Amino acid sequence: MNAVQDKLKRPLRDLRISVTDRCNFRCSYCMPREVFGPDYAFLPRQQLLSYEEIVFAARSFASLGVQKIRITGGEPLMRRDLDLLIRMLSDEVGVSDISLTTNGVLLPRSAAKLKKAGLQRINVSLDSLDTERFAKMNGGSAKPEAVIRGIDEAEEAGLQVKINMVAKLGVNEVDILPMVDYFRQRRMTLRFIEFMDVGATNQWRLDDVVPAKRILDIIGKRYAFEPVDAEYRGEVASRYRFLDSGTEFGIISSITQPFCQDCNRARVSAEGKLYTCLFANTGTDLKTVIRSGVSQEEFTEYVSKIWTRRDDQYSALRNAEASDDPNRIEMSYIGG
Ligand code: GTP
Ligand code: 5AD
Ligand code: SF4
Ligand code: SF4
Repeated sequence: MNAVQDKLKRPLRDLRISVTDRCNFRCSYCMPREVFGPDYAFLPRQQLLSYEEIVFAARSFASLGVQKIRITGGEPLMRRDLDLLIRMLSDEVGVSDISLTTNGVLLPRSAAKLKKAGLQRINVSLDSLDTERFAKMNGGSAKPEAVIRGIDEAEEAGLQVKINMVAKLGVNEVDILPMVDYFRQRRMTLRFIEFMDVGATNQWRLDDVVPAKRILDIIGKRYAFEPVDAEYRGEVASRYRFLDSGTEFGIISSITQPFCQDCNRARVSAEGKLYTCLFANTGTDLKTVIRSGVSQEEFTEYVSKIWTRRDDQYSALRNAEASDDPNRIEMSYIGG
């Protein structure tokens, strides 16, 4: 079947699947401790899609054009036996690009297993190499060394590793150059992410965003670089290459240069709701449909209809104020 297109002629290409809404970190921009405290009601286990149900859904998405599957959380490595899911997706779905986004601290015990199960790529979040500032970003959850150990293990296991750094003005802007120096020397791609107004709990303000242009100016004072063409339509990061080493870096500028016109991502939450935008407030309950015993073809048709009706472009239409809709989904629920 040809890739299905939405109302703005955007194909369905990427699928992001969240496997848990829990996380062992409490990043201020995602799961602030004040909100996600001991009493926070996370999803009960029986409400999560099983691995078999995820694979069933993924098969239909693949037949509608999906070429890349990314496993997210919360922290996906907190879900038990995640390597089994990776194995099932790589054996039974027919999508060759399978990757994972993680905070990295659980990688030492799982990187080799994940690679063996068929995972090729991994994106690890790290906002600073400085203990205090990293603690400020991640809610005091871990030291940078713990994440570096995870990155080492992933590299050792043969996974391709990229690093994600969320930048907040006045908090970790000073870490931009040290992070560039460190990951350049390790020949790893580092991507800077503008602090986004996802969800309703992270106290987002435009004044806290480090704009892409400012990041480029900071890097350009020390290193010469050139832009690199996107590998495919709808790639989220703008890419650059250092002239002297060939190592790349990237910027994900969803605030200052939104990229909705090419957005080809569908997102499925851990409880099986389909969202056609990161900033949505309602999703479609796929779990009930799957559990009703539909055939694969019927399910494919169901998803196809949802995508055909899609017209989301939140970031392109937003203004300087974040939406005050308290029902918008949280980053930790949908996995970015
Ligand atoms: P690659 O395949 O390695 O390029 O991965 P990716 O950049 O698509 O995934 P990752 O999980 O590393 O996401 C990096 C950042 O981009 C996160 O902050 C995501 O929330 C953000 N992001 C990914 N897709 C979208 C999108 O469609 N819209 C917006 N606004 N942000 C997105
Ligand atoms: N703005 C930008 N990036 C965010 N992430 C989580 N919350 C936000 C936010 N509010 C990043 C994480 C991870 C990726 C999935 O999304 O750091 O790298
Ligand atoms: Fe956890 Fe990632 Fe959210 Fe941080 S950004 S709290 S590591 S899910
Ligand atoms: Fe896609 Fe929504 Fe992000 Fe725009 S804001 S790029 S439509 S997920």
